[in-house]
Amino acid sequence: MKALYIQLEFELKRFKAEKNSIETIFIGGGTPSTVSPKLYEPIFKLLKPYLACGSECTSEANPNSATKEWLLGMWNLGINRISFGVQSFNNEKLKLLNRAHSPIQAKEAVCNAKEIGFENISLDLIYATLGDTKELLRHDIQTAFSLPINHISAYALTIEEGTPFESKPQMSKENLKLTSWIFKEIQAHGFEQYEISNFGKYKSRHNMGYWLYKDYIGVGSGAVGKLESQRYYPSAVLEEYIKNPLEIKSETLRDEDKKIEQTFLGFRSCLGVHGALLDKNEKVRADILVDENKLTEENGIYYNPDYLLADEITLFLSS
Ligand SMILES: C[S@@+](CC[C@H](N)C(=O)[O-])C[C@H]1O[C@@H](n2cnc3c(N)ncnc32)[C@H](O)[C@@H]1O
Repeated sequence: MKALYIQLEFELKRFKAEKNSIETIFIGGGTPSTVSPKLYEPIFKLLKPYLACGSECTSEANPNSATKEWLLGMWNLGINRISFGVQSFNNEKLKLLNRAHSPIQAKEAVCNAKEIGFENISLDLIYATLGDTKELLRHDIQTAFSLPINHISAYALTIEEGTPFESKPQMSKENLKLTSWIFKEIQAHGFEQYEISNFGKYKSRHNMGYWLYKDYIGVGSGAVGKLESQRYYPSAVLEEYIKNPLEIKSETLRDEDKKIEQTFLGFRSCLGVHGALLDKNEKVRADILVDENKLTEENGIYYNPDYLLADEITLFLSS
């Protein structure tokens, strides 16, 4: 946390951050709920003058470490949105995913957050895992909606390099029909789908900020920041980061990189893609998809009604 503080001071200068200019904060991980609120105090003290009025301040939390004391401590620091990494309310599935919490702990953590005063409460569910059935997923979704939440993120399990699952690729098993059913089931409970993985009565402004391609300061080992055409990578090796938090690698984003990223982010979300981003040929292709009702167009912006087709549409336009 001391190393992170040093990097944050540096980044606030690099980004020429002005008072009241930071719209959102997102504390992710790793597992933020394993760190005592006391250790976050200096960071919130440093950030306070830069925070815009009404800023959205989210922290992720794991049900087994997000105690009532921890939640209250973060609330008192100014966190006003909590995202619980629940993943499932099924015991066997939690074991399969090597999660350290139980379904009861997950329910208690959400209710504790509500009791403390959090209005913006989200939970994550993972699907497309080995052993998933409609019954299991229906129970996960119904249990989620029995809790005081206003947002759900549902992620298809991906096999990431350098993780234990890398040697168990069979763990990830997607069935697109089941995925479409999950999306409809969550929406049937009144949560709007505003991105391929995100649903809610509330749209997370931090997530939207990424998809609107806004600039963001990224601090901490393994974090990523973006300022105009520069992307910054502090060391993902914890010991190296602690030794020198200002050892930060960077990459320059070419216009083509930015365009591709903005295109698939736009088609994966409710934001759409502005026609000005597309060249003549891509516009012709986009209009073909409009004629085929695979895209809609309004005020020069192309919208994708089926987020599961986002990557195919992006590839089709640029092919
Ligand atoms: C993406 S962030 C959550 C952001 C949060 N949903 C929000 O709206 O603020 C962390 C979540 O990523 C998901 N996740 C982690 N590893 C994953 C993997 N390999 N495949 C799919 N989802 C994963 C887990 O659900 C984890 O709780």
